[in-house]
Amino acid sequence: MAQLVRRIGWGLMALLAIGIALAFAAPYLSLNSAVSRIPLNPAVTLHFPILVIHATTGGLALVIGPFQFLRRLFAKRPALHRTLGRIYLICILLGGLAALFSALVSTSGFVAQFGLGFLAIIWLYSAYRAYETIRKGHIQLHRIWMRRNYTLTFAAVIFRLWLLVGALLLRIPFHAVYDTATWFSWILPLLVTEWFINQQLLQALAVRGRHAVQLPAVEKSQLLAKEKSLEPVLSIKG
Ligand code: HEM
Repeated sequence: MAQLVRRIGWGLMALLAIGIALAFAAPYLSLNSAVSRIPLNPAVTLHFPILVIHATTGGLALVIGPFQFLRRLFAKRPALHRTLGRIYLICILLGGLAALFSALVSTSGFVAQFGLGFLAIIWLYSAYRAYETIRKGHIQLHRIWMRRNYTLTFAAVIFRLWLLVGALLLRIPFHAVYDTATWFSWILPLLVTEWFINQQLLQALAVRGRHAVQLPAVEKSQLLAKEKSLEPVLSIKG
């Protein structure tokens, strides 16, 4: 049952990621500034070219992300996982720097500029931590940082879903929906991700802690089996 829920969740995530990348980011490949959905800053000539870099690299990262969480792909094709991982991180580096620039020159107002600018910084930071941990061989920490980082990448999806729901269904003024989206699209998903990470870690540590007390043999063997299933979480280094 849990596996079915996980598969449906993954499918939904991949579908939304690909859909948003095709609908919102791909048009920028035409290099025609008429496709821009946001007003361009007339005083900044580089605004549109930088937006093109941001949309294309962000779109590619959004599409690659879900496949990096497939354990089967990682186990069967580790070289492919590594190559896609490198492309993903390069996309975040370029997309994140371009996002920071776009936030600075944006004409969307202070609230949006600050929300997206802050997001760009933690997007870059979490990608750096994911890279640093895997270079040191800390696989479990790398997984945790990648989860955080992809949650932030996925903000691009939540952002646009909230715009649709808020402006079209709830008929909230567009400016207010846009401003709230620049903060809630990443803060709320990040809280959910942190909750999942904590749950897994706490459960693993609680199981380990119970070994310190004397237990009947049957209960102890059940705990050992449970601990074995949580091995990926317990084997965090550093
Ligand atoms: C998660 C970190 C991200 C940050 C910090 C960020 C930041 C920004 C900023 C500052 C703008 C300009 C907004 C404005 O001036 O009002 C923008 C626009 C845009 N971003 Fe991102 N972005 C992120 C992720 C993504 C991803 C993953 C995609 C992939 C679909 C993406 C696609 C776009 C597109 C297509 C635009 C132009 C507006 C539009 O046509 O919808 N962004 N982004």
